[in-house]
Amino acid sequence: MSEYHNPVMLRECIEGLAIKNDGIYVDITFGGGGHSKEILKHLGEKGKLYAFDQDHEARLNAETIDNRSFTFIQTNFRNLKKYLRLQGVKKVDGILGDLGVSSYQINTAERGFSTRFDGPLDMRMNQQQTISAADVLNEYEERELHRILGQYGEVRNAKTLAAALCAERHLSPFKTIGQLLGVLKKFAPRGRENKYYAQVFQGIRIEVNEEMKALEEMLVQSAEILDEK
Ligand SMILES: C[S@@+](CC[C@H](N)C(=O)[O-])C[C@H]1O[C@@H](n2cnc3c(N)ncnc32)[C@H](O)[C@@H]1O
Repeated sequence: MSEYHNPVMLRECIEGLAIKNDGIYVDITFGGGGHSKEILKHLGEKGKLYAFDQDHEARLNAETIDNRSFTFIQTNFRNLKKYLRLQGVKKVDGILGDLGVSSYQINTAERGFSTRFDGPLDMRMNQQQTISAADVLNEYEERELHRILGQYGEVRNAKTLAAALCAERHLSPFKTIGQLLGVLKKFAPRGRENKYYAQVFQGIRIEVNEEMKALEEMLVQSAEILDEK
């Protein structure tokens, strides 16, 4: 599993959670389960860990965990409260979130998250979702692309780039990462091309997965369900 994703700041996360062995915890971004497995080591028989992830590959990882304290829920963490309630849980003792994408998602060409490989313009964390990166690039209005690139990608020349993307899709709709990089190359600052590509990809990814909205909804719910004791 360490090849799937190397859990970051593992010790700090566990210290921060200050786990009680009969407590109820939530890992809202299970991924390869590195953090979840460590949390489980600190739980006794009465303790519970609920892990969320919207990616089917994460579910496959979760299925390898055989522990009665552990429950995996394949859904977006914006549904946190509703799905915990379905499990009969109204309050929890701690919540861990390791946001973004996993190394596995980045390193799998077909998922379309990486600038390093050619592949489809996908970028969906939830493979059941219909909207992909190609849909955003081909269907969004120019001013929306401008906003996404500027706000989510912090791309400096977002307006110029949005116009160039719209001109390109008029000639040939976006399908592949190679095609997108072909356009980006012309607008990337010299010597900082990779950073520029990463910013553009980040902007599109955040939009495809509605990451800001999901984060906001999850944070509101987290405040409601965290036990203050
Ligand atoms: C950085 S990885 C987590 C890695 C994990 N901590 C580990 O040790 O392997 C982020 C994971 O969160 C999932 N994810 C991101 N946003 C999500 C959301 N809104 N709802 C559910 N899962 C999400 C991704 O699919 C990915 O598997």
